[in-house]
Amino acid sequence: MREDHQIRLVASADELSAAAARLFVTCAGEAVSSRGRFVVALAGGSTPEAMYRRLAEDSASRDAVAWPQVHVFWGDERHVPPTDEASNYRMADDALLQHVPIPSGQIHRIETEGRDAADVAQAYEATLRTALSATPDDWPIFDLVLLGMGEDGHTASLFPGSSALSDTSHVVAAPFVEKLQAFRITLTPPVLCHARAVAVLVSGVRKAKVLRETLEGPFLPDLYPIQLLRHARGMVTWIVDAEAASALTTGRPSWANRVSHPKEES
Ligand code: 6PG
Repeated sequence: MREDHQIRLVASADELSAAAARLFVTCAGEAVSSRGRFVVALAGGSTPEAMYRRLAEDSASRDAVAWPQVHVFWGDERHVPPTDEASNYRMADDALLQHVPIPSGQIHRIETEGRDAADVAQAYEATLRTALSATPDDWPIFDLVLLGMGEDGHTASLFPGSSALSDTSHVVAAPFVEKLQAFRITLTPPVLCHARAVAVLVSGVRKAKVLRETLEGPFLPDLYPIQLLRHARGMVTWIVDAEAASALTTGRPSWANRVSHPKEES
């Protein structure tokens, strides 16, 4: 049983955003006080976006983060220009980054324009190794990786059946996603699993079935890629609202040591 993997159940999507914002603040405070900076990988998707907007608009959270010491990266990106409405960079910039004083040189978007996805991934891997790896051969270490979960059990851009699921030699991969008929750029499972902390944000009844399979079903990571987080070395916190948790039976999978409920919410 992992002592540092837990499920935090909250009542609503709004409380999920608030709880995720508080976790972001806590991780940032610990990282800056311990290491002088906070290195975070942002996710795409509507659930993370709601949390970014909460972080930007809630002064108690926003003003508790030492933004000048924050370094922002992305866990994945679509192979589109940064101005495209599908861009994860554009979404985070609009929801959060424009509203907080992070030095522009500390915002490291995945530079997708003008080259094929494999070259984009290779360039971003070099950026990460330079900025976050203790030595060129070490895995880059994030203080916090934010993740969402798709209805098919994907996370970041690690989709079911993807070759990236078994990639243990690259930091960043550029899989072609059949169901989307598009290339994606994504951190690989080892990078997610080497993070000091991972937060998975899951909201809505449409995620209920896949969340039950993910948390309580057999270990089938090719089918449910997000299950690869069971190998994560650091803290993994699933922040789940009541709708998404509505199909959970035991409420506590064998590999999670703790389930907290709204009344216990810190
Ligand atoms: C992306 C994300 C993706 C997302 C999940 C959840 O680029 O789309 O990285 O992994 O986090 O699909 O998205 P929702 O919160 O919108 O369901």
